[in-house]
Amino acid sequence: MASLLSLPKLIWQNPHFPTKPAAHSHSLNVIPRNHSFSGHGLLHFQHGSLRAREMRVIRSSNQTEAVPDYSIQVSDVPLLTCSEAIERLKTYRENQHGKQQFLAMYSSIFGGITTDPAAMVIPIDDHMVHRGHGVFDTAAIKDGYLYELDQHLDRILRSASMAKIDIPFDRESIRRILIQTVSASKCKTGSLRYWLSAGPGDFQLSPSGCHQPALYAIVIQDLSPFNSKGIKVVTSSIPVKPPQFATMKSVNYLPNVLSKMEAEEQDAFAAIWLDGDGFIAEGPNMNVAFVTKEKELVMPQFDKILSGCTARRVLVLAEGLVRDGKLRGVRVENVTVEEGKKADEMMLIGSGILVRPVVQWDEQVIGDGKNFSALFRALMLSRHKDIQHARI
Ligand SMILES: Cc1ncc(COP(=O)(O)O)c(C=O)c1O
Repeated sequence: MASLLSLPKLIWQNPHFPTKPAAHSHSLNVIPRNHSFSGHGLLHFQHGSLRAREMRVIRSSNQTEAVPDYSIQVSDVPLLTCSEAIERLKTYRENQHGKQQFLAMYSSIFGGITTDPAAMVIPIDDHMVHRGHGVFDTAAIKDGYLYELDQHLDRILRSASMAKIDIPFDRESIRRILIQTVSASKCKTGSLRYWLSAGPGDFQLSPSGCHQPALYAIVIQDLSPFNSKGIKVVTSSIPVKPPQFATMKSVNYLPNVLSKMEAEEQDAFAAIWLDGDGFIAEGPNMNVAFVTKEKELVMPQFDKILSGCTARRVLVLAEGLVRDGKLRGVRVENVTVEEGKKADEMMLIGSGILVRPVVQWDEQVIGDGKNFSALFRALMLSRHKDIQHARI
């Protein structure tokens, strides 16, 4: 086996390597092209000058500009200084034009809030990044309020405890940090997303080398209105998470992502999981509920699925509808696929969608009603100030 000493010199020890990269912020070439290392190093750079394919043409409504596309620099990877890497992160972010804007981020690593998307990063040695040892939650931002923040906060703390993640601050401090982050963002409509992780340290499987747990939070502006159109769902073929993992909101959402992709491949909005006993479970980021022909609201119980804050709110509102005589009753219990498919109404419920009517499940057209989903949605939007929301 080669000893460490016989290995080629590290690149920055190589006398032929330019220790001080040329000053440039947007240039594509940090290491001079045509530079060839001989003898001392592993690397040989023998490329020609800038190739046309390394520039990406960005077209906006009123201009066309060529911007460097750093992602395709694979054959002559530059060595960057910290400020050059940050400059490139800034360029990368400036050229991302998605529907959502990231307005502010808090990180316990730098102990503050930034509004610069280039700085909204997480250390690669965080146990959440390389081992999935993290939990998260959200809260919708509506009209200057954080919708049911306390319920979501209770849930992330429960998830953290189940994932054996210590919390970096007490509950009240976390709450204060989250509110301050939204306040700094000036966001009025969108969502707050936050993570508790075992924190950075090393790349071991055990978190014992993680120095201290971390809290991250991001404010996402999303101006698209809640859509109330009826949607199609399919039955998921992706294995459902076992109850221990389905009842906590950990960052391990690969099954949820694959389930969503499976739905999209079939022109559906979501794929519905059945639990280990074949009962209806939940969607990849929403709960489900039904209104039977007898006007009862039926919802799967929460022992094998995520206890949705929106679904729990629906249950409270449903009690009111029972008192008003609009519903006959409310049942939270195992629901069979047969019962679900013959219901009058099926709805998906979650903070990202509020309440959305389902009009088709696999080949089955579901009922003909959208009455209760519209009613729950209207109640949630109109009575949202009746309940405890955090004022930003
Ligand atoms: C798996 C799963 N089920 C249900 C929900 C709905 O929960 P909530 O209403 O709290 O958003 C979510 C939300 O993200 C989820 O990920």
